Amino acid sequence: MSSDDPLAKAKANSNDKGAEQQLVCVTGAGGFIGSWVVKELLRRGYRVRGTARDPADCKNAHLLALEGAKERLTLCRADVLDRDSLRAAFADCHGVFHVASPVSNDPELVPVAVEGTRNVVNAAADMGARCLVFTSSYGAVHMDPNRSPDAVLDETCWSDYDYCKRTQNTYCCAKMLAERTATAEAARRGLRLAVVVPSVTTGPALQRALNVSTHHVARYLTGARDTYPNAVAAYADVRDVARAHVLAYERPAARGRYLCIAAVLHRAELAAVLRDLFPQYPVTARCEDDGGKPMARPYRFSCRRAKEELGLEFTPLRKSLYDAVLCMQSRGHLLPAIQQQQRHHQRASL
Ligand SMILES: NC(=O)c1ccc[n+]([C@@H]2O[C@H](COP(=O)([O-])OP(=O)(O)OC[C@H]3O[C@@H](n4cnc5c(N)ncnc54)[C@H](OP(=O)(O)O)[C@@H]3O)[C@@H](O)[C@H]2O)c1
Repeated sequence: MSSDDPLAKAKANSNDKGAEQQLVCVTGAGGFIGSWVVKELLRRGYRVRGTARDPADCKNAHLLALEGAKERLTLCRADVLDRDSLRAAFADCHGVFHVASPVSNDPELVPVAVEGTRNVVNAAADMGARCLVFTSSYGAVHMDPNRSPDAVLDETCWSDYDYCKRTQNTYCCAKMLAERTATAEAARRGLRLAVVVPSVTTGPALQRALNVSTHHVARYLTGARDTYPNAVAAYADVRDVARAHVLAYERPAARGRYLCIAAVLHRAELAAVLRDLFPQYPVTARCEDDGGKPMARPYRFSCRRAKEELGLEFTPLRKSLYDAVLCMQSRGHLLPAIQQQQRHHQRASL
């Protein structure tokens, strides 16, 4: 292999053993991000154990079809609230990627995120893993109404917990508490912790079902939402997010948070990109604040750590969105565009 080969470089940088000999575990392996983490690890030659609450469920079948899965992937049953199942899943693993978490605002699921993370860190340490990579969210970073709109947000920033609670952003509260728990427990147990902090993650799915962030795109594309909110969001490509996890694992010096964000867009801009890429769809065209309040301003992030320390390059959002939509079309998640148009016109004439 040439010295310019990124895989050869990654292997040279990786923890003690060559990647091809290492066993690593991914929690929530069948989900949107988890599946891409598994795929990236297999591509780099790792032996992978993926956890799911029901590995035999057909929603996880795509994992076994991944390249290298036949030889190097096993699936095992684990629930993050069941420590014994986690210990069994992490046995002999060099590293653990803790991706599993409910993506939900249901307060009853907060313990799955928080106590589940405590259990994962401790089971990983009990079983002698050297490194834990934890998937946080930019919801733990940017939610603070008192921050100057000119601020550049980086890994030192945290959301305002009370504000998230007051505004019923339970998911953000859960991710903040889970990340803080991971940090404290990993320090207590002497485990190296790297935290990947993605924003709204888009791009093609490996699993068949629509996940929450892909639905975020679909509902504007199909005009399922009559209006879009006067709001901004940050976006990242799922393939970059997965690569960030593996790069953070492979760099022995990688510790702490790595923001993983490619672009920040007002919903009007998101709709404009979708309309430009897919003019055949009835993309939502009206803002809920039309003629009212001023447009929400985009905030800025610095992903210097991910770029410089991990060597991560970001996929342009336009390509992510294009690939996401093509994938949804191929899975039958979107009605053919012509039916969409007819539905839209029918609704408009009511
Ligand atoms: N997608 C985004 O835009 C985004 C952005 C930032 C951060 N994140 C974070 O990325 C991670 C994955 O999100 P995703 O979008 O890939 O979500 P997803 O497709 O809904 O996957 C979530 C995974 O969590 C697992 N899970 C849920 N409850 C569990 C429990 N009690 N025990 C074990 N596993 C459980 C599910 O596994 P089962 O198969 O067992 O149901 C599923 O595989 C989450 O930590 C999320 O907070 C996502």
